[in-house]
Amino acid sequence: MCGIVGYIGQQQKAVDAVLDGLTALEYRGYDSAGIAYQDGDKIIAIDKQVGRVQALRDSLGDSKQSNSAIGHTRWATHGTPTIGNAHPHYNTDKTIAVVHNGIIENYAELRDHLKKQGYVFVSETDTEVVPHLIDFYRRSSNTFQEALEQTLDQLRGAYALGVMTSEEPDVLYAARLSSPLVLGVGNGLCIVASDPSAIMEHTKRVVYLNDYEFVRATSDGSFQIKDFKNAVPVSRETETLDYDAAVANKGDYPHFMLKEIYEAPQTLRSATLGRVRVESSQVKLGGLECVAKQLRYIDRIVIVACGTSYYAGLVGEYLIEEIAGIPVEVQQASEFKYRDEPFSRSTALLAISQSGETADTIAALKKVENYGVLRLGVVNAIGSTIARMTDAGVYCHAGPEQAVASTKAFIAQVTVLALIALHLSDRGNELYKPLLAELDALPKKAEAILEQAEDIKKLAQKYAGYRDFLYIGRKYGFPCALEGALKLKEISYIHAEGYAAGEMKHGPLAMIEPDFPTFAIATDSPLLEKTYSNIEEIRARDGKVIAIATEGNETIEGLADDVIYIPRTLEQTAPLLVAVAMQLFSYYVAIEKGLDVDRPRNLAKSVTVE
Ligand code: F6R
Repeated sequence: MCGIVGYIGQQQKAVDAVLDGLTALEYRGYDSAGIAYQDGDKIIAIDKQVGRVQALRDSLGDSKQSNSAIGHTRWATHGTPTIGNAHPHYNTDKTIAVVHNGIIENYAELRDHLKKQGYVFVSETDTEVVPHLIDFYRRSSNTFQEALEQTLDQLRGAYALGVMTSEEPDVLYAARLSSPLVLGVGNGLCIVASDPSAIMEHTKRVVYLNDYEFVRATSDGSFQIKDFKNAVPVSRETETLDYDAAVANKGDYPHFMLKEIYEAPQTLRSATLGRVRVESSQVKLGGLECVAKQLRYIDRIVIVACGTSYYAGLVGEYLIEEIAGIPVEVQQASEFKYRDEPFSRSTALLAISQSGETADTIAALKKVENYGVLRLGVVNAIGSTIARMTDAGVYCHAGPEQAVASTKAFIAQVTVLALIALHLSDRGNELYKPLLAELDALPKKAEAILEQAEDIKKLAQKYAGYRDFLYIGRKYGFPCALEGALKLKEISYIHAEGYAAGEMKHGPLAMIEPDFPTFAIATDSPLLEKTYSNIEEIRARDGKVIAIATEGNETIEGLADDVIYIPRTLEQTAPLLVAVAMQLFSYYVAIEKGLDVDRPRNLAKSVTVE
């Protein structure tokens, strides 16, 4: 949540660089944006606007000349989205400006202390304590850096901070604790940001900062990193960013979400590329080779994730149990971290995350840090915190996902989980070969669903006016139902609930009436007839039903009001095709309602606070 960027260089391009960086990071939060830049000797100018980065650009007008700047795009945690609460925040005499992503947990205590010292606060944010505290320590310190270090020592919580001071106009500071921060180093410039998408235009040489590290970057492109917990300098080589800049734009699509849905076939290919050999019936997961020995002793896997990644985990649970015969439990990371469950060393923790920066999932991994258990990751964002925290893992290779609603990442996660299930199996399972062959065939089948986009759009237009929706499914269809409901509610603001179809009679059936349609996942499986019974029960109560069924199913026409067909596939791979159809449905419902599909209200792409 929130994105920060800081730029310092020899040319006067900092304001443009920061604005472009903020645009790239806007998916992280978009309720307000602000920038601070050196505006002549000893003066830091700030501009802040409610709304998108474009509003900030419009307000700044012609490009401002400055060799250093820091900027912020906000997802409000403390205080409503107003200009006063937008970042950057100043100290009283406006000589220090700070941008912050994260939460300062002890801000109330610090604010009380500073108020007693005469400091006046003008915002409702937790962040404002930071410039005042630096100012407070600066009164008795020898250098600005010393005051900053004393401040960092006092802050509890999570932060990525960008700090500039008029005292040192040629220096930019940035610090990190439990919030992502990457430093880019170019020719005569340094740029810090919440993620590499804001950096890649300037340089591919980067350093990922670790917790308790801060960087002092100067306009000649040099930098020093220090571990402020142990007060020691840190020597770090830059690494080369493996990131394709071209992927992060919309191309000819009206929205990132549609583009990313249409990337499903390519996502399926990329997730299996170089990992699946159909002819020799082999799965090769290079990312797990270094833990091959430990994996032999694993007799239980706990998957932790949030939101869509959690639902992908539920599909993974069925896959791993059915194919590899290893018991799996999937937990919401936000709950996992507070549980006191016994954990044996033969249990592996598997974190799934698109961004690799989700605070709850990181906290789950941290919780087991000293348990001596194997920590695995299924992560999309290369070099992200979770990717670096885990002992081993498998990248999703879905490319950057920009729309807030996760689409192609789900496809990649489920595909990778299928590969992990195969990798962990003894290859004797009767599903081994058919599943491998089906993974190879899926991209073409996903294309066939995309070809039905116009029909799905018409269906979405027909149903966009309803206020409530139920999604039901059994076994592999159950996580699909949960994910389908999440996708609909987050971008169309329609109330939608996902349920295991077998639970209908235990409560949800009471809600059914003509104005409460149900989306039934009724693809081919040994349980299909039981799902038919659920559909009959809904129809008997005058409920409308949209079914997703497998091509060639003639029975469903007589049962459901409307049907979306997916190509014939295995029960185990059906979620990958069902998901594409449901994503298109949600997308077109939101479009019909005239909503901002890529940036739904109240949400942000990367949830880096608890
Ligand atoms: C829903 C969605 C969220 C994320 C969740 C986890 O469309 O995008 O539910 O899936 O916030 O995010 P990651 O996968 O980045 O850990």
